[in-house]
Amino acid sequence: MTLSAPRIAVCADPPHEVALQQRADELAASLGINKTRLGEPDCDLLLAVTPERLELRVLVGEPDLIGGNAVYADLNAIDTTSPAGRKLDMPLLKAVGIKKGHAYRPAVIDCTAGLGEDAWLLASHGCTVTAIERQPIIAALLHDAIRRASEQQPDTAQRITPHTANAADWLPQATSLKPQALILDPMFPTGRKAKERKPMRVLRMLAGDDDDAPALLAAALATGVHRVCVKRPLHSHVIENDTRPKPDVVYKGKAVRFDVYLNP
Ligand SMILES: C[S@@+](CC[C@H](N)C(=O)[O-])C[C@H]1O[C@@H](n2cnc3c(N)ncnc32)[C@H](O)[C@@H]1O
Repeated sequence: MTLSAPRIAVCADPPHEVALQQRADELAASLGINKTRLGEPDCDLLLAVTPERLELRVLVGEPDLIGGNAVYADLNAIDTTSPAGRKLDMPLLKAVGIKKGHAYRPAVIDCTAGLGEDAWLLASHGCTVTAIERQPIIAALLHDAIRRASEQQPDTAQRITPHTANAADWLPQATSLKPQALILDPMFPTGRKAKERKPMRVLRMLAGDDDDAPALLAAALATGVHRVCVKRPLHSHVIENDTRPKPDVVYKGKAVRFDVYLNP
């Protein structure tokens, strides 16, 4: 987690809607954050409950993050069908063991769900996905995104079960779900050439840099699950661990790769 954690508060927008105020009260209580009034916020990040969705607005931070578009996930907007969209999926699908022309669809635990893009891609291809996110505000945004997506694409949304937990602690009890693949996508190392897009930078304000990724990988490998898939920047080093110095297979995309560790 970051050293200077952002101050976060929740509000209803528009403020006169009673149902939104109630939802904001519930969120403030469940997330343990303050509730504030629109227009008088005393926080860095404002979690706004609107009629359409839950969204995060940056009020204080790096200048180019302030104002502009709010951060939320729109899972319905993810391209899963066009040729370009399918190309983007490819390394992810290969990593979890999906092969062209084969019906096999694994049960996957996404150990670093974030705003749910990878979980959604996998679910849209027929995988059942348990999506674990430990940062409570990000988890709330993910839950809300799945709820909204279920209105348009109920079959895909039903295949995703979100859960708020630290996956490293939770994985030992997850074997009862009989997953065939685990996905790990901790925050990429900072200082890369390509500047991250706003949603990822805001996620980083909340989640930090995931410096404990080696412990998560160790917990994932210890489960004995058949495929442990780690998403990395294309040219980055592997995540260190004591037992498996090298992945067994690597699937490369344009900007990322998946390091896959196979267990018998
Ligand atoms: C790069 S984002 C993941 C993006 C996601 N793969 C997607 O497609 O939207 C990393 C996320 O993993 C979460 N995370 C990191 N380590 C975790 C852990 N041990 N347990 C649960 N969540 C974790 C962070 O809080 C952050 O939200």
